[in-house]
Amino acid sequence: IFRSDVPLNEDLPTLSQKDPVVDFSINQVDANSFANFTQNYSRQFQTRYAKSEQGKNAPKWLGALWLKMARDAGRNDIVVELLPPPRGLEQPSVRISIPGSDQSAPFVVLGGHLDSISGWGGGGSTAPGADDNSSGIGALTEAYRVLLKQSFHPRSTVQIIGYASEELGLLGSREIAANYQTNKARVRGVLQLDMVAYPGNSSRAVTFMTDYTSSALTRWTEQMFGLYVGTQTKEDRCGYECSDHASWTRYGYASVMPFEAAMDDMNPNIHTANDRWEGLLDANFGAQFAKLAVG
Ligand code: BES
Ligand code: ZN
Repeated sequence: IFRSDVPLNEDLPTLSQKDPVVDFSINQVDANSFANFTQNYSRQFQTRYAKSEQGKNAPKWLGALWLKMARDAGRNDIVVELLPPPRGLEQPSVRISIPGSDQSAPFVVLGGHLDSISGWGGGGSTAPGADDNSSGIGALTEAYRVLLKQSFHPRSTVQIIGYASEELGLLGSREIAANYQTNKARVRGVLQLDMVAYPGNSSRAVTFMTDYTSSALTRWTEQMFGLYVGTQTKEDRCGYECSDHASWTRYGYASVMPFEAAMDDMNPNIHTANDRWEGLLDANFGAQFAKLAVG
């Protein structure tokens, strides 16, 4: 069943004034730490194409890093798993679960794709994917670092997912969202981060995608961003199922996708060997999305 909009299954927190704990946590986000990860992941894995050797190694490396971060923070309650690859493929998705105190509460999901591709429909030649989507994984990793530092013990279980094989047609996220539906898993909302570090040429506004997302969750997230981060926002549409949020929408889960720019102003280098950090990406701009994830 395709649904063009998804209602919320629970009221979201009111945003009439700043919550001091949230505000403090958001201010722990470090642009350098975000930039270091994003550069490192895209340099270490010059392609993360799902059908390549490096594309199989990248999620293993990411899962090991996320697990080490948890254990170094003394968190033995946090689970990090490699999820089974989509049919016929060998690249797993990676999922962190930070267990909630209320196990019956709907989960919160934050995610982005961990793969990359060269060409459209493409192949396995050089595809550093610094913006698409080392930047999204970098923003999620930075948010996770901050949450660990704050000894984050949420009411709702929070999951952070690096999706496999997005570039082959949203395959990892689609299988995950389908499984959640089959298992009747309840989800409060899903945040998708895909391309967050190239500030468009005409404006530095964070752009919320209004198709294949939940209008109510989008409105709430825009307000939350305005309250705590305070920089300019605008809206645009992909016009097609452009990223993993569309998988969640397809299976009836509310999603939101903040993006780096308007469609006509986005990074022109994606899916090429030139999707690199140098001279193109902006640490402070991208760090706003890590703040958004923390919020
Ligand atoms: N990061 C892009 C999606 C994107 C592109 C979002 C432009 C917003 C603006 C994503 O990784 C991608 O390349 N998606 C594919 C579609 C997918 C189903 C293979 C695309 O846009 O062609
Ligand atoms: Zn892409």
